[in-house]
Amino acid sequence: MSFWWFWTQPPVVEEALDEDLPKIADIHAASFAHAWNVGELARMKAQQGTLFLVARRSSPYGSRTPLGFLILRIAADEAEVITIAVAPRQRGRGIGKKLMEAGLFRLYGERCSHLFLEVDATNETALLLYRDLGFREVGQRKGYYGKPDGGGDGTALVMRIDLR
Ligand SMILES: CC(C)(COP(=O)(O)OP(=O)(O)OC[C@H]1O[C@@H](n2cnc3c(N)ncnc32)[C@H](O)[C@@H]1OP(=O)(O)O)[C@@H](O)C(=O)NCCC(=O)NCCS
Repeated sequence: MSFWWFWTQPPVVEEALDEDLPKIADIHAASFAHAWNVGELARMKAQQGTLFLVARRSSPYGSRTPLGFLILRIAADEAEVITIAVAPRQRGRGIGKKLMEAGLFRLYGERCSHLFLEVDATNETALLLYRDLGFREVGQRKGYYGKPDGGGDGTALVMRIDLR
C-alpha cells in the first residue's frame, strides 16, 4: 500500500482525544483572533454535554493529526455550535462540511430538536457552509463580537437548523 493511498482517503470524523488538544489549539489560534489554549480546550472537553469532534486522515506512520474540529454543546433537546475550524491549508476540501454533517448525525441520535449557532455577519465562508447545510437566520446580535478585527460592526447572525 503506497503513501499516496492514504492521501486519497477521505478524512474520518471521530471524538477528540486529549492528545489532539495541542494541534486543535494550533488550528484555533490560526483561525480566530482570541486563541484558546490547551487548558481551556481540556476544560471544555470535560464539560458535561460537550461533543468534541475532530476530522483526521490516516497516515502510513500512524500519526493521525487533526485537520479540523467541531465543538457542540447539548442542553436538554437543544444544541449549539461552540466553534468549528479547519486548518488553513486544509480549507475548501469539504472538511468543515464533513464535521458539521457528523455533528448533526450525532445530534439526531441524541434526539435534539434544534441546533443553533452564532456567526459573524461578515464571515462569508462560514455563512456559505451553514446555508448549504440548511441553517437559516433567526436573529441578529449587534455588537456581539465587540470590536472586530476584520471589518464589519461585530454583528452576529443567529442561525438555526431544525432536526425534528
Ligand atoms: C468555516 C470553515 C470551518 C469551513 O471549513 P472548510 O473545510 O473550508 O469548508 P468546506 O470545504 O467543507 O466547504 C463547505 C461548504 O461551504 C461553502 N464554501 C466553503 N468555502 C468556500 C469558498 N471558498 N467559496 C465558496 N464556497 C465555499 C460551500 O458551500 C461548501 O460546500 P461545497 O463544497 O459542497 O460547495 C473554515 O473556513 C474555517 O475554519 N474558517 C475559520 C474559522 C471560522 O470562521 N469558523 C466559523 C466560526 S462561526
